[in-house]
Amino acid sequence: MDIRRARSCAELVAAEGLFDGPAREEWARRFLDAPGHLMLIAYVGDVPVGMVSGVEMTHPDKGAEMCLYELSVDEAHRRRGIGRALALALADEARARGCYGMWVGVDTDNGPALATYESAGAEDEGVFTMRGWALG
Ligand SMILES: CC(C)(COP(=O)(O)OP(=O)(O)OC[C@H]1O[C@@H](n2cnc3c(N)ncnc32)[C@H](O)[C@@H]1OP(=O)(O)O)[C@@H](O)C(=O)NCCC(=O)NCCS
Repeated sequence: MDIRRARSCAELVAAEGLFDGPAREEWARRFLDAPGHLMLIAYVGDVPVGMVSGVEMTHPDKGAEMCLYELSVDEAHRRRGIGRALALALADEARARGCYGMWVGVDTDNGPALATYESAGAEDEGVFTMRGWALG
């Protein structure tokens, strides 16, 4: 298994089976061009079997931190350490970028994700609720 950062729309589109829905070329391009956005893809041979995306967030009184945006491993390749390896690879990347920390929001009933983040060294920082705006 090999983990590589996606650099092209073609790589993102080829990994769309790991996303919640189909990739769109224009959004893939916007993702690649957006500062602080990155995706690491795990390959077995040439086949993408897992991905993690991250978005760097910066604030004047805090510095930069990494948000783990999405993590997904192909069902047939789960429970082999790929999810943990991807989370650790993103943490390494965040450290290299000078981020002081990394965080992820997880549904409280997502046992596999919670186990994966714990095994990658994340600590429980408490429960919070989320509010959203649909902007049409
Ligand atoms: C969460 C997910 C990425 C885990 O990927 P994975 O490659 O199977 O995880 P790993 O094999 O690296 O497992 C890491 C640790 O979590 C544990 N774990 C993973 N899945 C588990 C499960 N279903 N039940 C119990 N423990 C589990 C592993 O045993 C391992 O623990 P260990 O370090 O003590 O051995 C994968 O289940 C997935 O894609 N789920 C759907 C998408 C999702 O929920 N993403 C997270 C959104 S926040």
